[in-house]
Amino acid sequence: MTSNAPAPMTQDQLKEQVGRAALEYVIRGEIVGVGTGSTVNKFIDALGSVKGDVRGAVSSSEASTQRLRALGIEVFDCNEVEEIAVYIDGADEIDASGYMIKGGGAALTREKIVAAQSRKFVCIADASKRVATLGGFPLPVEVIPMATRRLIRQFEAIGGTAVLRMKNGEPHLTDNGQHLLDVRGLQIVDPLGFEIEVSQWPGVVTVGVFARQRAHVCLLGTAAGVETLSYPEPDESPS
Ligand code: 5RP
Repeated sequence: MTSNAPAPMTQDQLKEQVGRAALEYVIRGEIVGVGTGSTVNKFIDALGSVKGDVRGAVSSSEASTQRLRALGIEVFDCNEVEEIAVYIDGADEIDASGYMIKGGGAALTREKIVAAQSRKFVCIADASKRVATLGGFPLPVEVIPMATRRLIRQFEAIGGTAVLRMKNGEPHLTDNGQHLLDVRGLQIVDPLGFEIEVSQWPGVVTVGVFARQRAHVCLLGTAAGVETLSYPEPDESPS
């Protein structure tokens, strides 16, 4: 017996769907902040089809810069731009408050910088990224190489297991020439407090918890279509 039900959408199709949907948030004539990763690549491809409508982009990685330029989109340095209206980026996990884990694609430091310079963070993600509590995805942390061993022990002391990310038998170097740790076994119940604490540890460049730079909106790709989730400011939350 054959079924007429449409085939379920693949993760790639869900990413494509939200990448296209994010165009709605791009302000015509302005510079858009662009993140990194496979979902953002779908957004960049969609942006290519309306490139005449934007002034250009600020990019969070060498990989995104290359892709943007290949499509004829001008890429500006962060220092050339005062403020960015909208930043579009993916996430490895996002919770019900818009707090995220990011950095699976190794670009967390530049992503946090561009997000901090932007008025609005629009997260694009497939539904698998929505979680109740952050920490299931190994937490990326960019670190100064001379602090790597000590930071591995410091994460152990709070119950995490940190491993140095490797590539072709060598430590994976970020676009900034630093090391990355991936930390398993943490349940991050207080993302803001955790981010503030770990960011102070000597040798930590950037922790992949995005709490201060959380998402304002998430376009979540689901089988039923794109779900738009908005996250109120803490003082706007219903009491
Ligand atoms: C890169 C990131 C990405 O946004 C995150 O890893 C999600 O990537 P993808 O869209 O490929 O699932 O933080 O540093």
